[in-house]
Amino acid sequence: MMIKEGRRLGVPETGKSNHFVEEKTGQNMVNGKSNFIVKLSLDGTITYISKNVYMVLGYNSRELIGTHISKIMHQEDYQRVTNEWESRKEEISNLTYRMKKKDGKDFTVESTSSPISHFDSEIPEGIICFIKEAGLDKNEAENIMIESEKLKVAGQLAAGIAHEIKNPLTSIKGFIQLMKAEENPNKKYLEIMEDEIHRLDIISNELLVLAKPHKHKVSVQNFTKIVTEVIFLLEAEALKKSIQIKSVFEEQKLMILCDVHKVKQVLINILKNAIEAMDQGVITIHMAKNANHALVSVIDEGCGIPDEYLDHIGKPFFSTKATGNGLGLMICQKIITEHGGTISVQSTKMQGTTFTIKIPIAKN
Ligand SMILES: Nc1ncnc2c1ncn2[C@@H]1O[C@H](COP(=O)(O)OP(=O)(O)O)[C@@H](O)[C@H]1O
Ligand SMILES: [Mg+2]
Repeated sequence: MMIKEGRRLGVPETGKSNHFVEEKTGQNMVNGKSNFIVKLSLDGTITYISKNVYMVLGYNSRELIGTHISKIMHQEDYQRVTNEWESRKEEISNLTYRMKKKDGKDFTVESTSSPISHFDSEIPEGIICFIKEAGLDKNEAENIMIESEKLKVAGQLAAGIAHEIKNPLTSIKGFIQLMKAEENPNKKYLEIMEDEIHRLDIISNELLVLAKPHKHKVSVQNFTKIVTEVIFLLEAEALKKSIQIKSVFEEQKLMILCDVHKVKQVLINILKNAIEAMDQGVITIHMAKNANHALVSVIDEGCGIPDEYLDHIGKPFFSTKATGNGLGLMICQKIITEHGGTISVQSTKMQGTTFTIKIPIAKN
C-alpha cells in the first residue's frame, strides 16, 4: 500500500508543485474570504482560480479550471465585460459586474483585470482578475469581517455543543436497541449508558459555565484504558456495518496527563469518522510509544481522503457528508493541542486513512 506523506492537521503542507505555491501566494495577496483571483486564457477558459473561490461562489477551484468564464458570470454582463477586456487589451481595467454562484444566486463584484504575457514576450496570452465583493469600503469590509467572525464563533460553539451531545445520545440509543434485541443483555451495557449520561451531564454543566473560561480537568490516566473504553462504546455501531474493530497494543500502560472526557471525545470523533468512511472491513487501533509520546493510530479501510481535501481537513465546517457539520476534527485538534499533542493524517484514496494522535507521556 502506498502511503502518502503524513500531514499534521492545521499545518498546511509546503509547496508541492508550482501550481500549489501559486495558489498559496494568491491567497496571501487577496487577504480576505470575499476576494479571489481568476486567470483566463484569451478565449475565456479559466486556467487558474484561487482556492478561496469556494467561500464566495461555492465552486471548488477544480470544478472551474478548464471551464469557460461564462459559467460564473452573469449572462447580461458577460458581453459588456468581455468587450471591455477586448478594447483595453494592454491596460488594467476596473469593472463592476455580477457573477453567478453555484446555487444560482447573483453576486456583484469589483474586478481589477490586467493582461498577462510570458516574461519573454509582449503578446498577451491571458487575463488575470483580482475580484472582490462590490460596494464595500475598507472599514465596512472590516466591520463585516469582525461581525461575521463573531457570528462564526457563536455558531461554532453552538454546533460544537450539539455535536458533543449527539455522540453520547447515539451510543445510548445503540445500547438500548442492543438490549432490546438480546434475551439476557449484558449488565455492562448499563454501566456504559450510565457513563454516557454522565458525559451529557458534564456537557450541560459546561454549557452553564460557558461564560467563564473553561477549566481543563486533568489527571494522570492510562491511555490504553481510555482507548479500550471507547472501542467498547462504538463496537455496536461498527458491527451494524459489519466493521470489526481490532486493537493492537504494543504497550499495556501508557500514562498521560489528560482530561479523560475530552480525550474520549477525540477518540469517538475519529473512530466515528472511520466507521462512516467504510462499508465493511477492519479498523485497527494501534497503540505504541516513542521516547516521549504515547501514540494511537486509527487505521481504517475506508474511502480515503483525496489530496485536494487534505488541507481542508480540520477546518471548521469542512465536511463531505450530507449530514456532517465538519466540526468533529476541528474540536479534536483543539483538544489535542490543549494536551500538548498533535494529530496527523495519512490517506490513500480508495484504500484507507490513518489518523495518529500523539500525546506526551506523563512524567512520574
Ligand atoms: N477516516 C476518514 N476517512 C475519509 N474521510 C474522512 C475521515 N475522517 C474525516 N474525513 C473527512 O473529513 C471531513 C471532516 O470530518 P469531521 O470534521 O469529523 O466532520 P464530519 O464528520 O461532520 O463531516 C469529513 O466530512 C470527511 O470528508
Ligand atoms: Mg466527524
